[in-house]
Amino acid sequence: MKDNKLRLAFFDSGVGGISILEEVLAHAPSCEVVYVADSAKYPYGSLAESEIISRVTTIARELYKSFPFDCFIVACNTASTAVLPSLRTYFPDSVVGVVPAIKPAAEMSKSGVIGLLATPGTIVRPYTDELITRFAPNMTVIRIGSTRLVEIAEIKMRTGTVDKVALAEELKPFLSRPELDVVVLACTHFPLLRDELQNVLGSGISLVSSGQAVSKRVWSLLQNNLSSGGPISIKYISTSNQGAHEEIWSYLSKWGAVTHQVQGFGL
Ligand code: DGL
Repeated sequence: MKDNKLRLAFFDSGVGGISILEEVLAHAPSCEVVYVADSAKYPYGSLAESEIISRVTTIARELYKSFPFDCFIVACNTASTAVLPSLRTYFPDSVVGVVPAIKPAAEMSKSGVIGLLATPGTIVRPYTDELITRFAPNMTVIRIGSTRLVEIAEIKMRTGTVDKVALAEELKPFLSRPELDVVVLACTHFPLLRDELQNVLGSGISLVSSGQAVSKRVWSLLQNNLSSGGPISIKYISTSNQGAHEEIWSYLSKWGAVTHQVQGFGL
C-alpha cells in the first residue's frame, strides 16, 4: 500500500542526470529521491539499443518494488531515445524522458545551422532523426557524438578538474562552421560543462539543453500529488563500486540528506 510521500527516481549511466535533478529539485516540495547511476554499464553511448532497453526497464521495475516512485525520470538522452516506449508499457503515467532539444534550437537559430552535441548512440538514433525531420527539416544539423566529453564531465564531478585541451579538440567540427549559432546539449552530462563549452565556442553560440523543460513536465505531471514543504532525502545508488564517489554525494547534499549504496538489480 502506497503512502502519500512524493517519490522521484532519476536514472542515468553516470553523473549526467544530476544536471536534470538540479532543475527538477529547484521546484520540489518535501520528497524522497533515488538517483540510480548504471555505472556497471557506463558509458551508454556505445551500448546497443536492445541492451539499454533491457537494463533500464529491469532497473525501473526492480526499483519500484522497494521504492514505488511517482515519477521515473530517464535523465539520459542516450537511454530515453531508446527506452521510453518500452518503459511506458510498464509505467504508463509516471515516466518522463529527456530528448534532444531540437525544437527550441531550431526556433532560436537565425542562420539555419545548428549543432547537435550528444553521445555516439544518440546522434544515430532513429528517434533523433525523427526530431530533426519534424522540427528542423530545412536546417543543417552538424552532429558530434563524443564519449570523451562524457568522461570529462564525470572527472569534473569527481575531482573538479577539466581537461580543456581535450574538450576543445572534441568541438573542432563546430569551430570550422562560422554560420553555426545554436548548439543542442543533447547529453545530460554536457550542461555540467556548460561554462567550459561556452568558453571554447564563444558567446555568439547559444547552448540549449532540456533540463527546464523536463522539470516543467515533471511538476505538471505531479501537480495533484504535491505535499507541503519539508525535507528532501536523496539515496544515490550505483550499480557497481566504480560509480560510487564521495564528491558526488557531497555535491548532492546541497538538496538534502544523502545516503548511498551499491545495488545490482539482479542484472
Ligand atoms: N548522460 C547520458 C546522456 O544523456 C550519456 C552518457 C553515457 O554515454 O553514458 O546521453
